[in-house]
Amino acid sequence: MPAKTFVPTLAVGAVVSLAAMVAWAQAPHVTTGAHHAMMAGGTITKAIAVLQPTKDNPGVSGTVTFTQTGSGIQVVADIHGLTPGPHGFHIHEYGDPHSPDGMSAGGHFNPTGKPHAGPTSPARHVGDLGNIEADEKGHAKLDIVDPALSFAGPTSILGRGVVVHAKADDLKSQPAGNAGGRLAVGVIGVANPGPAAPATLPTPTPTPATRTTPK
Ligand code: CU
Ligand code: ZN
Repeated sequence: MPAKTFVPTLAVGAVVSLAAMVAWAQAPHVTTGAHHAMMAGGTITKAIAVLQPTKDNPGVSGTVTFTQTGSGIQVVADIHGLTPGPHGFHIHEYGDPHSPDGMSAGGHFNPTGKPHAGPTSPARHVGDLGNIEADEKGHAKLDIVDPALSFAGPTSILGRGVVVHAKADDLKSQPAGNAGGRLAVGVIGVANPGPAAPATLPTPTPTPATRTTPK
């Protein structure tokens, strides 16, 4: 008697389990495609911000890359169209350049609740990268490694904004170093690793001489 009831119960249980497994197998593959692609090959190791000029500064342009290293994130900036001299250079809270004056990028990125300071200060905004120095042609380059930045957790800079200012950051005035207006804003996004380098592509094999001259 127990066997007669047990068998149908097992069968129903098996059908329910099968349905659950099918649902499980289908759902994750449909909903996590983007996440899977982003994480392909491990964690994010490179980000990029392309600077967009604000309304009154159409000549300012540039690119900032962020690359994970063993001792922090390497920040490499290459910016053109500036007036010669130092310009405040920060990561701001919002990766949002929609307002014409760049104010939509918000204040300095400060997830740890510290005062404004320079990049080498132990107590600083995470976004305090200090200044970039433009030469007589208005070209500024920066190459630093900053251990305060990261690509994960509360101090992640992904999705935040990069701002170049009209004036120098004095590295002490609150809340933003008295660096003046905003010349350009960029959004920090996950960088496209790009196509494989040509060196890794297979070398084309010359077509063998298989044709014979008709006689
Ligand atoms: Cu700023
Ligand atoms: Zn600051």
